[in-house]
Amino acid sequence: MIKVITTIREAVETINDIKKSGLSVGFVPTMGYFHDGHIELMKRSIKECGETFVSIFVNPIQFAPGEDLARYPRDLERDKTMAASAGVKYLFCPGVSEMYPEGFQTRISAGPLASDFCGASRPGHFDGVCTVVAKLFNIITPDRAYFGMKDYQQLVVIEKMTEDLNMKVKIVRCETVREKDGLAMSSRNSYLSPEERKAAPALKIALEKLELEIIEARASDFKGFDIEKALESHKAFLTGSGFKGVDYLKVASADTLAEARNAGDLRSVDRVFIAAAAFIGRTRLIDNAVFDLDKKKVNGHE
Ligand code: PAF
Repeated sequence: MIKVITTIREAVETINDIKKSGLSVGFVPTMGYFHDGHIELMKRSIKECGETFVSIFVNPIQFAPGEDLARYPRDLERDKTMAASAGVKYLFCPGVSEMYPEGFQTRISAGPLASDFCGASRPGHFDGVCTVVAKLFNIITPDRAYFGMKDYQQLVVIEKMTEDLNMKVKIVRCETVREKDGLAMSSRNSYLSPEERKAAPALKIALEKLELEIIEARASDFKGFDIEKALESHKAFLTGSGFKGVDYLKVASADTLAEARNAGDLRSVDRVFIAAAAFIGRTRLIDNAVFDLDKKKVNGHE
């Protein structure tokens, strides 16, 4: 039986009882409309922790005006069934006024790691994410919290927040879960028309090709490798494959998120983050590749 908790008070009481019995708490924060990526996070938490809490909260303060807050997919009954079959016992689903009662005014300000990529395209987004995640961590007080690598910048920003603010939770990185054709799973994939869905895997293809080019260029110490040119050709591939436009396609350090603008920058990078966001119809999809330059994948490693 899955228990749906809607108040902070009940969540805190339930957690206190669990902790009294000596069990560790795993936590999977989500905005709901589950897919297999969410289910993998839940299963891993269940495997590694005594009890697992999953939250569903479409956090209004991480959406800018004009973004998809109103149409973000929601289906609690479907989510309940999926979480229950994954073995989850507790779903925390607070309403907006429970999380942000009248008079709420405090915000966490994410630092420079949040300034580029999605942070540049979605001003205030990561302040909203950090604020809600910090609130959820304070309510659930998890030992471990599980985040997917698809939102790699979010993951790095949250890791930094927990380090900077001395939060005791351990952040666990989990590999991106993909459809058979390579498309990264996302609740927003439900926005895609059949035609857009067919075109969407081009994003993963572009990332894979660019990853390969970077690994090959490293063999000759990036001599003659022109990042700008490579990025332009992959952007053209995306727009030629059904994408309406590319928000960003950038190469960076996976550790500092500093952009690598030329071969010289790349030479000093050990682990690469290729970050992509692109529009297909009205939908903005993001994806990434994170890899060691000696080709050892870092996806999914703690
Ligand atoms: O990745 C998400 O689903 C959200 O950004 C999160 C972490 C649940 C915060 O609202």
